[in-house]
Amino acid sequence: MVTVIARAKVNYTLDVLAKREDGYHELATVMQSIRLHDKLCIEPAERLSMQIETKAGVAPWLPDDERNDVLRAARLLQQRSGCRAGAHVQLTKYIPVQAGLGGGSADGAAALLGLNRLWQLGFSEDELADLAEELGSDCVFTLKGGSACCRGRGERIEPLHRVPFRWLVLFKPLAGMSTSRAFQSLDWREASAEPPATFSFLEAVQKSTSPFLHLSNHLRESVFQQIPELARFARRLDATGYPWQMSGSGSTLFLLAPSRQEANELRSQLVPWDWWSFVTCSSARGAEIVE
Ligand code: C5P
Repeated sequence: MVTVIARAKVNYTLDVLAKREDGYHELATVMQSIRLHDKLCIEPAERLSMQIETKAGVAPWLPDDERNDVLRAARLLQQRSGCRAGAHVQLTKYIPVQAGLGGGSADGAAALLGLNRLWQLGFSEDELADLAEELGSDCVFTLKGGSACCRGRGERIEPLHRVPFRWLVLFKPLAGMSTSRAFQSLDWREASAEPPATFSFLEAVQKSTSPFLHLSNHLRESVFQQIPELARFARRLDATGYPWQMSGSGSTLFLLAPSRQEANELRSQLVPWDWWSFVTCSSARGAEIVE
């Protein structure tokens, strides 16, 4: 059996630079792995199958068929390697769905890593990254993890080595947001009128000044219009004086705290009773085989 952990991510910045001919959007974004993760236990089997256990508040329902990124990853590996072996994947979901935390992408990336080991396919890290790129825009980052500046549709990664460690409090209302819907509803001309924050963030990292003064997300306003309770809650986050931002296409908002204790206190002070929330911290790793 192979056990893999699939770490979630947040976007410290997300600049939408242009709309592309292929329907995707050209991005500049700083992504950060966090300790919150799903777990995949993968066993040899005759056919491909999966079972999902979801923890409280994570998702009302998730497909366990070919629409799931885990089985998409498995099929892709079979196609490219000619391997006919099967596997059973037990996925335990701790990362909420439609949250902008890269949960589906992280599961797909972890499945690539774990099945490459189980089936002894011998794909290198770079070859797995090429397969991850085919699976989804965020899969390359969630495979490698750490801190990175991501360009293109999110798949072109430059690792960053000096982004300071932080504690994070994650807050998500019941309402989720699909990535394609968030991008579709964006008025990108309005968004790109805002100066890109990614370069200010990178400059601050280089100069060892505080990059967290440059948290930004071009998708935020259109997502707030569709989920008004996010806009209301954001006013409460503003009042704390701590840096906060929306992650990816939402609907998770994260707040940065200097210590675990403060993060826990902020969580209990702020969280609305029917929201999911979680205290975590930044992590230097992405998908990882743990046993
Ligand atoms: O790459 P992935 O399948 O995860 O993207 C999901 C959807 O999000 C795409 O179909 C597209 O509508 C939108 N998207 C985008 N620009 C990006 C990434 C995603 O428009 N850079």
